Amino acid sequence: LDNGLGRTPPMGWNTWNHFQCQVNEQLLKDSADAMIELGFYEAGYKYLNLDDCWEGHRDENGYITTDPITFPGGIKALADYAHEKGLLFGIYSDAGRLTCARRLGSLGYEDKDAQRYAEWGIDFLKYDNCHNDGSPEIQRYVKMRDALNKTGRPIFYSICEWGKSKPFLWGRAVGNSWRTTLDIRATWASIISIIQKQQMITKYAGPGGWNDPDMLQIGNGQLTLEEQRSHFSLWAALKAPLLLGFDIRNPPVDAKAIALNEEIIAINQDPLGLSVSIVQRTRFYDIWTGPLSDGYVAVLFNRGEIPVVITLYFASHCNLEGEIAVRDLWEHADKGNFATSYFSRVPKHGVTVVKLTGGSRINKHNEPLFLQQIWD
Ligand code: GLA
Repeated sequence: LDNGLGRTPPMGWNTWNHFQCQVNEQLLKDSADAMIELGFYEAGYKYLNLDDCWEGHRDENGYITTDPITFPGGIKALADYAHEKGLLFGIYSDAGRLTCARRLGSLGYEDKDAQRYAEWGIDFLKYDNCHNDGSPEIQRYVKMRDALNKTGRPIFYSICEWGKSKPFLWGRAVGNSWRTTLDIRATWASIISIIQKQQMITKYAGPGGWNDPDMLQIGNGQLTLEEQRSHFSLWAALKAPLLLGFDIRNPPVDAKAIALNEEIIAINQDPLGLSVSIVQRTRFYDIWTGPLSDGYVAVLFNRGEIPVVITLYFASHCNLEGEIAVRDLWEHADKGNFATSYFSRVPKHGVTVVKLTGGSRINKHNEPLFLQQIWD
C-alpha cells in the first residue's frame, strides 16, 4: 500500500502468541518498558501491538469503546505511553460482526472505528476475518483501507484473512502486509508447514507490501535452539514482519539472543526489500537465496532428523561467479573467499545463514535456477 509505511518489514512485539486474551493495561505498559530496557527497541523492534480482547461495547453513537475492566485508562493513554518512549502502537480489529475471540468487530463501522483509531494515535491495524458476512475479502478489506486513508493518519495496515482469497494478488494495493497462512503454533510441524507454503509466493513481497507467514513463536512452546534459529532466519529472509510473541518482560535467554542477532535483522531490513526464493529442495534440506542491496544471502536449511552437509553452489544457486567472500551470520565470522561453492554441516532442524559479497552476476535477470526436487 502506498501510504509511506512498511518500506521494510515491520518489527515489534504482539500480545497474542503468548497471552491470547489475558491482556491488560499493566501488561502493555510493562512490555513497553521492557522493549526499551532490554534492547529490543534499539535493535529495531518499534511496534507494540495489542491483539484481540481490548474491545468493549459500542456507545450510543456507534463508536467502539474499550474493555473497562482490563483497560480502564483507555487505548489513547496506552498509545501515549508508548509514543513517549519512542514506540509505535498497534491495535486489532476484524472485518466481521465479531472478532475471533467474539469481541465486537468493525464490519459496517469502518469509518467510525478508523476515526477513533486515528484519534487514539494508532500506528498499526491488524484486521482479522472471523464472523464475516460471506462477502469477498477484498471488498471488506478495501473498506477499511479507505476508512483509514480518510483519517489522514498513516496507519500500517495488516491484512489477516489467513491467505483465504489469494491476498498476495491484491494485498499490495490494499494493505502493507497480508497473512499467507492459518495461525502459527509454537511447534516445529506448524513452522515447517508454513515455510513450505511460502515457496510459490516469495516474489510478491516488496517495499510497501509483505507476505506475512504470521508472528514469531521463538521463546514459546518447546522449540529447540536450532528450530528457533531456523524459524527466525527464514522469517527474516522471506522479509516477513518480525513480530515477537514471547513474554517480553521476561524473555527466555535463547529467544532473546536470537531476536537480537543484528546481522539477521539486517537481512530482513535490507532496503532492497526482496525475499529469498527456494532454489533447491531435497528430501532433507532446502536452499533459499536472494539478493541484498550489498550482496547476496543464502539460507541452508536442514529439515531432516540428522545433521547434513549442505553445499551452496554460487552459480546455480545464486547466479554468481568469481571470488566470493562468505560470512556466517550466526557464527558472526568471516569464513574466507571461495571460487565456486561453500559447504556447511547443518544440525538437525537447523540453518546456516551466509552473506555473500564480491563476484558478479552471471546474467542480468538475477533469477536463480529452481532445482526441482532432487531426491537424495
Ligand atoms: C485469529 C488471528 C490470530 C489472532 C486471533 C485473535 O485467529 O489469525 O492471529 O489475532 O484471531 O482472536
